[in-house]
Amino acid sequence: MNIDAKQHWEERYGERDRVWSGRVNTRLAEIAAPLDPGRALDLGCGEGADAIWLAEHGWQVTAVDISETALQRAAEDARVRGVSDHINFQHHDLSDSFPSGRYDLISAQFLHSTVRLEREDVLRRAAGAVEPGGLLVIVDHGEPPPWAREHIHDHHFPSPDEVVESLNLDAAQWERVRAEPVEREATGPDGETGTLVDNVIVLKRRRGTPSRG
Ligand SMILES: C[S@@+](CC[C@H](N)C(=O)[O-])C[C@H]1O[C@@H](n2cnc3c(N)ncnc32)[C@H](O)[C@@H]1O
Repeated sequence: MNIDAKQHWEERYGERDRVWSGRVNTRLAEIAAPLDPGRALDLGCGEGADAIWLAEHGWQVTAVDISETALQRAAEDARVRGVSDHINFQHHDLSDSFPSGRYDLISAQFLHSTVRLEREDVLRRAAGAVEPGGLLVIVDHGEPPPWAREHIHDHHFPSPDEVVESLNLDAAQWERVRAEPVEREATGPDGETGTLVDNVIVLKRRRGTPSRG
């Protein structure tokens, strides 16, 4: 486990009792709602809102994060919502280890970090763990929010095409269902409203192409 990355995220979660809204990510809910529930994997689950939503919609979920604080909050919320039996929370630094198994849905929502995160390797490994007929769903920030601090505006936000290309997937095995920027209205930390851009990527492993996980 990489101590710097772990410490970074522990400190981030330690700054407040709650860091995220507690609501499911809009794009994930839209994409997952019509699916038949099966086994799902949430990479970088944070405080667990997506994992809990998936469990409440019939999925058997494995939810992973580098922060034990985030995982404890997520597990407590899952208990209160009565879905603990449907979520297996696991502590991993995904740069170093990855949960075993194969999944019908693997979700990486805003799996970004300013410290070490071997994101391309993690996402490639995730692709290898998708069941035939299953989905890999990646939602990234497409550009800085209007209220972001100045230095973030210099940061390169990979386009949906760049992310898909970085996965090096065999087109014979994968259908590119969606890879596009989508706008969303949101409220910033000081109550200001603005338009955010999410890069939404949905890739489907074609049936008859075995996964590796
Ligand atoms: C920007 S947050 C997104 C959280 C959640 N998916 C959401 O959309 O609200 C990124 C999450 O990834 C986790 N993370 C960052 N690096 C990680 C790593 N190397 N291994 C596992 N989780 C990591 C962080 O702890 C954090 O919870």
